[in-house]
Amino acid sequence: MNNLIIKDASQVVTCSGFAGKRGEEMSDLHIIENGTVVVTDGRITHVLRQSEPIPVNESEYQIIHAEGKAVLPGFVDSHTHFVFGGYREEEFSWRMRGDSYMEIMQRGGGIINTTKATRAASEEELFDLGMQRLDAMMKLGITTVEGKSGYGLDRETELKQLRVMRRLQQTHPMDIVATYLGAHAVPPEWKGKEDDFIDFQILEMLPHVAKEKLAECADVFCEKNVFTVEQSRRYLNAAKEQGFRLKIHADEMTSLGGAELAAELRCLSADHLLQVSDHGIRALVDAGVVATLLPLTAFSLREPYARARTMIDAGCIVALATDFNPGSSFSASVPLLFALACIYMQLSPEEAVTAFTINGAAAIGRANWIGSIDVGKQGDLILLQFPSYKFLPYHVGMNIVDTVIKQGKQIVKN
Ligand code: NIG
Ligand code: FE
Repeated sequence: MNNLIIKDASQVVTCSGFAGKRGEEMSDLHIIENGTVVVTDGRITHVLRQSEPIPVNESEYQIIHAEGKAVLPGFVDSHTHFVFGGYREEEFSWRMRGDSYMEIMQRGGGIINTTKATRAASEEELFDLGMQRLDAMMKLGITTVEGKSGYGLDRETELKQLRVMRRLQQTHPMDIVATYLGAHAVPPEWKGKEDDFIDFQILEMLPHVAKEKLAECADVFCEKNVFTVEQSRRYLNAAKEQGFRLKIHADEMTSLGGAELAAELRCLSADHLLQVSDHGIRALVDAGVVATLLPLTAFSLREPYARARTMIDAGCIVALATDFNPGSSFSASVPLLFALACIYMQLSPEEAVTAFTINGAAAIGRANWIGSIDVGKQGDLILLQFPSYKFLPYHVGMNIVDTVIKQGKQIVKN
């Protein structure tokens, strides 16, 4: 039964809207105090005030009494790399000793290290690991997750990662948006032949992935000593021609102009942006590209946080995501994400909630379908143990998600 009534929640934090919210709009969560939400056949059919009668036959619905609890849309994690083999705990200790992420990558560690392990892992192993990781994210209130390939960097393994995500989408209650990240790093066999590697992506991989409908989005790591702006432009343009929606790892360690490229190509999102220039921020605002910020990565790498305040004040659409991956952010900790966003990046709790719901949905092109509590949207909801969303950053590092609902079905009771 996908019919559900959540009655008398202390707050229904609707985040109402059908597109990404920019600048000041991010502060208004469109809250209904003491509200009720009705989900019929998996879709939200009514969002009611206390005084309004419930216009359905309640005997056909599961009822959750939510006094003292806040209801929010399920969280949307729009940037992760959750399908991978192996771990990189050695590299973590090298970083604590002072080595930088890019130095370790230059020495053949980093993404290439995980690529070796992912090539060696069977599809079954990756599937089992994917299930475990999705279960953990789901308990933290995430109901839709984007997942990238990019740890194969060869035909077979990239397709293996994407097939695993397709099977997980069919098996796991969470929704998965697959992104093809064939241009994540240059594998050893293509070292020194970066342009040829991009040609291989354009001529063979992108058309194949598009034909098999294995991914919705395409992404590239545009960074000094990885892929240049010109190589990224070629790759993304070809991806666009194949029907992919575009994302880009932009201006993470160096201010290369990735944000400007994202604006030029009308990407869905530009991600990381630790080093984005003022000009780049302007370009994102003007083009309406979502700026996806990843505080857990800056924290884990001891890099300066992205300039979220400047971006929001300039009128940007800012999203937050975990960047869950085995290297730069081996964490999908939603509680820590909220704490870092508010305490260190100066987002208000309202802005942080917007950034991880409706703006996360916008970053994967689904703002008309998920990310808010609006009539017609998918019934993906979470209940908190506390009466206000303000506890999300305030209860530092603690999971306060009480119940998770996916398409009107309870999938977690913590
Ligand atoms: O988003 N920066 C590039 N890609 C990932 C990290 C991948 C890895 O280190 O395995 C990121 O941080
Ligand atoms: Fe990433």
